[in-house]
Amino acid sequence: MRIDIISVVPKLMESFFAHSIIKRGAEAGHVEVVLHDLRDYSLSKHRQVDDYAFGGGAGMVLSIEPIARCIRHLQSQRTYDEVIYMTPDGEPFNQRIANTLSLKGNLIFLCGHYKGVDQRVRDLFVTKEISIGDFVLSGGELAAAVCADAIIRLIPGVLNDETSALTDSFQDNLLAPPVYTRPAEFEGHQIPEILLSGHEAKIIEWRFEQAIERTKQRRPDLLDDSVF
Ligand code: ADE
Repeated sequence: MRIDIISVVPKLMESFFAHSIIKRGAEAGHVEVVLHDLRDYSLSKHRQVDDYAFGGGAGMVLSIEPIARCIRHLQSQRTYDEVIYMTPDGEPFNQRIANTLSLKGNLIFLCGHYKGVDQRVRDLFVTKEISIGDFVLSGGELAAAVCADAIIRLIPGVLNDETSALTDSFQDNLLAPPVYTRPAEFEGHQIPEILLSGHEAKIIEWRFEQAIERTKQRRPDLLDDSVF
């Protein structure tokens, strides 16, 4: 998979993509993340990429020309499955969307800034709009990083133990069960007996029950449209 991210502050994301699981995924050749500075596509002497909103009002708007030049440049080199605009008024991001996008080949993420992008960018170039929650960030960069992380860890081979993504919270509309590691006893607090029993089938059943219980307590809404 190749992920291209267009932003006015690409440096904000550099260290994020240079570390941890994402870095391993890139080094192993599973994914390539390329950051683009929108200012490189500006036609103005001062590398301007925004302008005042027509009709007045506070806040600048990202102009269509540099964005169009950048997206067209990328699209002339390869075919993209989606051009995704990160915006608080987009579709709420969730595990289902992450799963779907992890199966794609090439993705463009466009990060908004200031008051957002000229509406014609959304009408002409964007194929999907995503929000990471009902709050407003100062730019789409963190939101794009969140989505990219959730997507990249699902690409086969990126995680060491492939089954570990399958047992994540939300993969089956259930939250993950509690987990424990050594020591088996800490200041009198024991781990559940069953986990020491060595009885694999019973442990699987226990984890499943715990997952259902935790979901009922914390996120009963998830159970509404599941089979449990
Ligand atoms: N840009 C600003 N706020 C955002 C949000 N909540 N989700 C996605 N992109 C954003």
